[in-house]
Amino acid sequence: MDKKTLGIGMVGARWGAHMHHANYKSLPPGLVEIRGVCSRTRQSAEAFARDTGVAFATDDFDALLARKDIDVIDICTPPASHHEIAIRAAEAGKHIIMEKPLTGYFGEPGDREPIGRHVPRSRMREGARRNAEAVREAVRRSGVRFCYAENWVYAPPIVKMRNLIAASRGSILELRAEENHSGSNSVFSREWKSTGGGALLRMGVHSVGACLYLKQWEGERRLGRGIRPVSVLADTADLIHTPASERARKANAHQWISSDPVDVEDWANVTIRFDDGSRAIVLVSDVGLGGLNTRVTAFMTDGVIKANMTANDGIETYAVDAATFEDEYFTEKLETKAGWNRPSCDEDWFRGFAQEIEDFAHAIRDDREPRAGIDLAVDCVNLIYSAYLSAEEGRTVSLK
Ligand SMILES: NC(=O)c1ccc[n+]([C@@H]2O[C@H](COP(=O)([O-])OP(=O)(O)OC[C@H]3O[C@@H](n4cnc5c(N)ncnc54)[C@H](OP(=O)(O)O)[C@@H]3O)[C@@H](O)[C@H]2O)c1
Repeated sequence: MDKKTLGIGMVGARWGAHMHHANYKSLPPGLVEIRGVCSRTRQSAEAFARDTGVAFATDDFDALLARKDIDVIDICTPPASHHEIAIRAAEAGKHIIMEKPLTGYFGEPGDREPIGRHVPRSRMREGARRNAEAVREAVRRSGVRFCYAENWVYAPPIVKMRNLIAASRGSILELRAEENHSGSNSVFSREWKSTGGGALLRMGVHSVGACLYLKQWEGERRLGRGIRPVSVLADTADLIHTPASERARKANAHQWISSDPVDVEDWANVTIRFDDGSRAIVLVSDVGLGGLNTRVTAFMTDGVIKANMTANDGIETYAVDAATFEDEYFTEKLETKAGWNRPSCDEDWFRGFAQEIEDFAHAIRDDREPRAGIDLAVDCVNLIYSAYLSAEEGRTVSLK
């Protein structure tokens, strides 16, 4: 491909799209240009275009795809629409950038609702695998690049962890990856049919992605091949609808948690076994107060590495009154600015959003694989749906 400016067409016009747009804007001039935006409603696309100065806004995806000056479709829509949009983009010869997760199971005609309570996880796993493989197949057939926006793989603490693993001669025996906050604000996150799962898919996909990526990396360095996950053992729960939560509700001591699932989990714990016998533990919660918490720890035979992608003590604040610092941004999902706090100095950089967008722009222009591509995206879906099956059946599930 010649080194012309890449034309980007955004699909989706809310949080994810604005986050990507902000990070495209930080790239050197001439690398990319956002040339169009499509959303479910014209009103929303036009609002995004007005806010960002994008010239073309539509609610018709075909109109976006038809534009010859658009080389890349950047998918920032809810997960249920990801695989169809990606397949159509690939068939039209457009490169793809996709927000996590790649896909999932969102229901089929005849499913009893709410599907999270009635559809067996074995059937869901098959459906999610079919969707994931259909995207991989479309991408391979059309020869376009697929960039998987798994920001943890790009976050500076994980990049440093990767470099430290490379520098050591030891083995990772255990990875512990966790994410928690006080619940998604999106109403869609409450139902399986719109998100394809709960906290494990929505958030845990980051932890799973980081663990798979790090073991792949370790294997390539030590063995000349990636170290692969072979089985999972999982437990999931809806902790906000337990007698423990009910007790707190009666005592009026529950109001800070916004999680309120219909048929999805708000807590999950997954143990992953790898083909070298090592383990990863993924722990996610939508009912954890204290702001966003995202950490990965590598317990190695010759050391320990702790990566923390959220609160750090680069800057610390104290306030008696929560309003002291008015509307200056601190960090995602923080319940109060009173007391001691650790605002993030540059959240997009620290969480890898800026670096993923930069890698994607260069990977497409240079016709190379991005650091996070289709195989990682497919592996994450397979692993998470195997974990759902494990939690339902109470047994270890093989990933074959
Ligand atoms: N990496 C991270 O840390 C992170 C964090 C949050 C979200 N995400 C991911 O980002 C993606 C978007 O999340 P969000 O919070 O921005 O979602 P959102 O607030 O629900 O917005 C979704 C956008 O997609 C549009 N849309 C929905 N269905 C569509 C379709 N079929 N065709 C075209 N446009 C469609 C909607 O249009 P209207 O506006 O017209 O309704 C809306 O603009 C998700 O995949 C999510 O998992 C990632």
